[in-house]
Amino acid sequence: MAADRPGAPGPPGPARDTGRYPPPGPSRSPLAWWRRKSLRFRLTATASAALALALAAAALLLITVLGRALIGSIDDVAYQRAREVVALADDGRLYDPIAVTDGTIIQVLDAQGRITHVTLGADRLVPLVSARAMRWRAPDGGALFVDGRPYGIPGPLRAVVLRADHGRTVIAARPFKDVSDSLTTTIHMLLVGTPILLVLLAGASWVIIGRTLRPIAALRRGAAEISGTARSRRLPVPEAHDEVHELATTLNDMLARLEAADASQRGLISDAAHELRSPLASIRLQLEVALGHPDGQDWPETAEGVLEDTLRLSRLAEGLLTLARLDERRRPARWEPVDLAELTGATAARYDPDVVKVGAVDPAVVRGDALDLGRVLVNLLDNAVRHAASRVTVELRAAGGRATVTVADDGPGIPEADRERVFNRFTRLDSARSRDDGGAGLGLAIVRETVRAHGGSVHLEAASPGLRAVVRLPLAPG
Ligand SMILES: Nc1ncnc2c1ncn2[C@@H]1O[C@H](COP(=O)(O)OP(=O)(O)OP(=O)(O)O)[C@@H](O)[C@H]1O
Ligand SMILES: [Mg+2]
Repeated sequence: MAADRPGAPGPPGPARDTGRYPPPGPSRSPLAWWRRKSLRFRLTATASAALALALAAAALLLITVLGRALIGSIDDVAYQRAREVVALADDGRLYDPIAVTDGTIIQVLDAQGRITHVTLGADRLVPLVSARAMRWRAPDGGALFVDGRPYGIPGPLRAVVLRADHGRTVIAARPFKDVSDSLTTTIHMLLVGTPILLVLLAGASWVIIGRTLRPIAALRRGAAEISGTARSRRLPVPEAHDEVHELATTLNDMLARLEAADASQRGLISDAAHELRSPLASIRLQLEVALGHPDGQDWPETAEGVLEDTLRLSRLAEGLLTLARLDERRRPARWEPVDLAELTGATAARYDPDVVKVGAVDPAVVRGDALDLGRVLVNLLDNAVRHAASRVTVELRAAGGRATVTVADDGPGIPEADRERVFNRFTRLDSARSRDDGGAGLGLAIVRETVRAHGGSVHLEAASPGLRAVVRLPLAPG
């Protein structure tokens, strides 16, 4: 039953059958949509939104300030005229019609609210500001808007009310139309100009952000061109000394380090292959010769020869494995107290006591892996015994928070120029001799990596005659 559609694994359901149900594609939420947009788009959109807000706020502020300033200047003139009329009325020098030349409309009302004096052409029957409005909105005088149409004046009027002696009231009004017209014009200009400005600024942002991001695109292209095998490729570094410049420089440094690591790995592999080749060739030759003439063959001798080469191979494999492990963890496998005095004595005891002599041994406990540290001593003693003329001396000192192990021999020593080089992998100075003894040139490399992993250091120095290997390790606290 379930196997009617062999091409579709899993339980059949409507979503699988039609393929038209909500596609299992990316989420459709606005946030997901926004995240999918390019960085350039998002930066431009954010900048434009901020600009739009700023422009709208600026336009609003401009209109408000401009409106207040214009109303304030109208009020100033109206108050000025009103005060002049109040002064005339109080002095009893007020004549009808009131002589004002700047178009201000003035009405003087007596205590009963009847109009007594007006400017030429002003209404003599109905006060510009009703008694009610005066009570509510300008009880002690003040400014207010009134509709000018009942008085035959188009648009609103700005009126100020002042009190004079004998309960009289002076109303001075000026037409507001010019001001409202210029405000309207300004608003229209802003309504048209602001969006245009916004579009221009958004376009400029789009271009500038595009230019800013161009070096990143160049970086990306450069990175895409670097293949796994391409050597000495670097990313383009922009001229501007900005964050992208720093990123490109850092990435190039990283590429250089990776390249160096890659080169050393390749070197190691080719060296290892080279080292493997000779014992394998030797085994093959011995077996071919033996099988070619099986009758007169000394089989135990052949087996011995093959065994010797096999041991060389297994030592090589062991050494490579040890180095690979050290490279991998860069920390000792165990981190426990190691009695270095005991370890030194026990390791030296494995050699011929006529050759290897143990000198002064201070009590010293370090932290780390006893197996690894034992291998360090064995590698150094192997080298010393191999090269010594007659004797090897091992000493252990503990001072200044450090344990110092020295392994000295009276052999030919190593020229100063080569004393660092021999710590490299597969480096042998006397290749013919170490080949006989089976050395691959990994011993000192393992010593250095192990000592480093234990937080210590190792170097070689002249022992006149011979060579002295000096290993320093931090003592365990307490
Ligand atoms: N005590 C020493 N006196 C003189 N030369 C030394 C001494 N110790 C090391 N060397 C030189 O340094 C080289 C590197 O030593 P290292 O221990 O790394 O390799 P090896 O002994 O040749 O091989 P392996 O240790 O892997 O068996 C040796 O081949 C040898 O030429
Ligand atoms: Mg060695």
